[in-house]
Amino acid sequence: MTRFGRSMLQHFALDPAITYLNHGTVGAPPRRVLAVQQAIRDEIELQPSRYLLRELSEIRVGAPRAEPPRLRTAAAEVAAFFGARGEDLVFVDNATTGANAVLRSLPLVPGDEILVTSLGYGAITNAARYVARQRGALVREVAISPATERPEEVIAAIDGALGPRTRLAIVDHIASDSALLLPVAEVATRCRARDIPIFVDGAHAPGAIALDLPAIGADWYVGNLHKWAWAPRSTAILWVRPELQAALHPPVISWGLDQGFTTEFDLVGTRDPSPWLAAPAALELLAEFGADEVRTYNHDLAFQAGERLAKRWGTEFRTSRAMVASMVSVPLPARFGGTAAEAARLRDLLLFEDRIELHIAARGDRLAARVAIQIYNDLADVDRLGEAIARR
Ligand SMILES: Cc1ncc(COP(=O)(O)O)c(C=O)c1O
Repeated sequence: MTRFGRSMLQHFALDPAITYLNHGTVGAPPRRVLAVQQAIRDEIELQPSRYLLRELSEIRVGAPRAEPPRLRTAAAEVAAFFGARGEDLVFVDNATTGANAVLRSLPLVPGDEILVTSLGYGAITNAARYVARQRGALVREVAISPATERPEEVIAAIDGALGPRTRLAIVDHIASDSALLLPVAEVATRCRARDIPIFVDGAHAPGAIALDLPAIGADWYVGNLHKWAWAPRSTAILWVRPELQAALHPPVISWGLDQGFTTEFDLVGTRDPSPWLAAPAALELLAEFGADEVRTYNHDLAFQAGERLAKRWGTEFRTSRAMVASMVSVPLPARFGGTAAEAARLRDLLLFEDRIELHIAARGDRLAARVAIQIYNDLADVDRLGEAIARR
């Protein structure tokens, strides 16, 4: 008997009247993590100048202190959870910011190419297009079907699209609309064989899958902690291979320019550091609940939801288990259409009439429900969605 399911809602601030199948979108931090964040804020407000100017980052006023900067201590704790060293990891607000740092630091020249996939996240692809158009470079998009069943198809598609002008490959670890878990380590191996740098967008990965950052073999890796790792918004990590750290700059330049990777990213103007400083407490809670148990529960129920909903709706779910983390994308019956406007309409109906929150992707010919499973969900939530769609 699992201890997870609806009773776990007590640990989250979520409205119990809503069937929340959308944990992947903006996360939902547990109450205990929010309390830790509030305690940090309270401590900051006792002596704000002291905390933010003397204790927070490597750039500080006053005489040098023996204690490490608070952000470095938090970074080391978070890094250890993901098999990394603190000095190779910085906090950024979100995956979008991390991606912008990487893209805007690239030494591109006219004719260079950035490879993205059709499964990529729109905001990140936008950032690639923006940088490319400033430098006379090109964005090449390799088409990968959201209905892809096996990891080998993804490896072959990306490998076939790498070319002599490719200066960067951007590959999602867990794609957004399609929810597909992609074989990034294998793709990284192919990139390395051709000396092509790879940036992995792992926005959904930390907490959702077991993650050893250096083992992936990427050059840069960004991951949100505010989705599946239970940290408060806005918390993401950017891991960078040591040889590339000196050339990387945050999208907003501040006091730390050219003073080293962590110094530069840790102080980007005045900001509220409480979400980042609370991140270790989020990972501690995840470990307390059992990070493996949480992942296994979410994965198993997500996969079960994929098969069960497709059966209920008379559609097809053929994604292999190897491509599922804690979300699945299930095609909806053809009568719902396939456009973005039809997706938006159905999403509203589900929320405002059925009290079910989930992401719906428009695949053009079809809509697909992206069902995200967190420990507060159980099969009854999945069936509630199944029935709500079936009766429409
Ligand atoms: C694959 C992917 N990349 C990037 C992002 C952007 O994350 P954020 O809004 O935290 O920057 C998301 C958000 O869902 C995503 O799914």
